[in-house]
Amino acid sequence: MIRRLDHIAIAVPDLEAAIARFVADLGLTLEGTEDVLSEQTSTAFLPVGQTRIELIHPIDGEGPVQASLDKRGPGLHHICFETDDIDADMAALRDKGYRFLSEAPKPGAHGTRVAFIHPKSCGGVLIELAEHPE
Ligand code: CO
Repeated sequence: MIRRLDHIAIAVPDLEAAIARFVADLGLTLEGTEDVLSEQTSTAFLPVGQTRIELIHPIDGEGPVQASLDKRGPGLHHICFETDDIDADMAALRDKGYRFLSEAPKPGAHGTRVAFIHPKSCGGVLIELAEHPE
């Protein structure tokens, strides 16, 4: 079951410049950075209330974020909902006809298990589900 908006992800071609914008200009706080090697992605987290802005940047100019930058340019990439049971939510959504980008959840940042709903089955919005460790 979905519990809250976990983060909003923005694809950025220059991570340092994007961090500087959100911290120096918009006044957010940088919580930390993490490389998710399985997705060839560097991430930076900036909390805002109960959710976070997540800046995502390709490692070595490769991977899904680079593909997105090449295809759509920088900007909003996906929204992520926290779920308390990602396996049950994937099964329930599959029963309703939703398609996912992976067969099973994959490892995400912060020790999460994550899965993405295909945007073509979700009104053009890329939605991530994330289950945090207990
Ligand atoms: Co995400």
